[in-house]
Amino acid sequence: MDVIVVPDADRAGIVAAEVVADELAAAGRRRDEDGSRPVLGVATGSSPLDAYRHVAELARLGRVDLAGVSAFALDEYIGLPADHPESYHEVVDRTVRVPLGLPPDAVHVPDTGTSDHDAAAAAYDRAIADAGGIDVQILGIGANGHIGFNEPGTPLDSRTHVVELAERTRSDNARFFGSIDDVPTLAITQGLGTIGDSLCAVLIATGVAKAEAIAAMVAGPVDPRCPASSLQLHGRVTVVLDDAAASRLDAGRVRRG
Ligand code: F6R
Repeated sequence: MDVIVVPDADRAGIVAAEVVADELAAAGRRRDEDGSRPVLGVATGSSPLDAYRHVAELARLGRVDLAGVSAFALDEYIGLPADHPESYHEVVDRTVRVPLGLPPDAVHVPDTGTSDHDAAAAAYDRAIADAGGIDVQILGIGANGHIGFNEPGTPLDSRTHVVELAERTRSDNARFFGSIDDVPTLAITQGLGTIGDSLCAVLIATGVAKAEAIAAMVAGPVDPRCPASSLQLHGRVTVVLDDAAASRLDAGRVRRG
């Protein structure tokens, strides 16, 4: 893992966006050969918001061409209508699709509006494969080490699946809802194996609440107790941290950005 540490969240967004833009541009050149276009994997939550804004800015400056790019969300709650303001359908629309200028049919979110959630999860994995796989996967990390909604204990080779959200995840996400009681208990998430299939991943974490999970992800054993540690098996991961999120890492494992 390439771990870049910057002074604050603003700078983390800029550095992450530059990595994403460079990787998307490289994916565009690769895909030109078969006439397909790059595929971006997108996380919701607070961590990547600045990066999305800066990617949009880099596209305006001509550093990256987003025409024809499609996007796949990592996850979606079960039990919220698609037009609920906190459904990831809506969140991805607001924070990714509109700023990046992508057309509605270029953005995919697991379909939790059907009764057969397992079938919807399997269909999502197939849709990613049909798009030629994810070129650049943007990630955040939960304080309990989750990526996507792969909670501690998730098998490292899991595919897109239905998950019961951990209490820590529900309480962390209660800030987006009226109260924790309004946070759904279930979701569909890309699996750790699905995320591991992406060609490159860019994980952003800021704040001291993430420091322990980051240390386990970077320097701990590869262990389902810290789902993000599965990224140690991924060949191409850039981690962008502020000083607080990096505070439990040895200086020798990181570089300043
Ligand atoms: C969101 C997701 C989660 C978040 C994580 C961190 O789609 O998959 O793994 O990335 O919960 O959330 P924030 O960034 O809000 O701290």
